[in-house]
Amino acid sequence: MGFNVAIDGPAGAGKSTIAKAVAAKLGFIYVDTGAMYRAIALYLLNHDIASDDEKAIEDSLDDINVEIAYVDGAQQVLLNGENVSKEIRREEVGNMASATSVYGFVRSKLLSLQRELARKSDVIMDGRDIGTCVLPDAQVKIYLTASVDCRANRRYKELVEKGETPVLEDIKKDISDRDYRDMHRDIAPLKQAEDAVCVDSSDMTIQEVVDTIVGLCEK
Ligand code: DC
Repeated sequence: MGFNVAIDGPAGAGKSTIAKAVAAKLGFIYVDTGAMYRAIALYLLNHDIASDDEKAIEDSLDDINVEIAYVDGAQQVLLNGENVSKEIRREEVGNMASATSVYGFVRSKLLSLQRELARKSDVIMDGRDIGTCVLPDAQVKIYLTASVDCRANRRYKELVEKGETPVLEDIKKDISDRDYRDMHRDIAPLKQAEDAVCVDSSDMTIQEVVDTIVGLCEK
C-alpha cells in the first residue's frame, strides 16, 4: 500500500482545489472519486435513464466502463474510452451523481478501482466515504468542511467569473439538498471518520488549509 491521504467533506468545501495542491506539494497522485460517480451519472443522463429507475441503472452498469488516466499529472476520466473530464463538471451531472451514488451496486462498481489506485501509489483521494469506507487504513484522514453560506458564495463567484448569471439562493438550496442526500443515504453516507481531523475552511485561505494538511502528513 502507498501512503494514503483521505479527504472527505460536503460539496463545495474546496476538496479538489486543496487536494490537488497538497498532491503537488507532496508528489502524490490526486484521485477525485466524485469524478467517477459523475462519469456514471453522465452515461445515465445521456441514455435518458432516471435517477429513481433502479432496475435500469443496475442493468446498464455492465455497459459502463470508467477508467482513470493521468496527463501531465492531471486526472482524466474516461467513460467507455471517451475523455469526459470537462463534461462531467456540469451542475446537472453533479446532482445526478449525488442521486445515483445511493445505490450499492453503483458504489461497489467503483470501489475496487479506487482501492487499486491507492494500493499502487501514494495518493491523496477525495470523496465522501474515503476515510470511512474506501481507505479505512489511510495514514491521514481529513474531514474538510465549510458553512453552506460560504460554499454557496464561493460557487456563485466561480460561476460569475465564467460569465454565467447564477441565483445565490438557488445555489444555496442545491448545496443543502446535496448535503442532505449525501449524508443521509443508507450506504456509505458522508460523515467524519472517528480518526479524521476536521478542518473548517470557512475562514481560512487555500494556502492555510494546504499548509495544515501538509503539516499533518509530514508529522
Ligand atoms: O465531489 P463531487 O461533487 O464531484 O461528487 C459528486 C457526487 O458523487 C456527490 O454528491 C456524491 C457522490 N460521491 C459519493 O457518493 N462518494 C464519493 N466518494 C464521491 C462522490
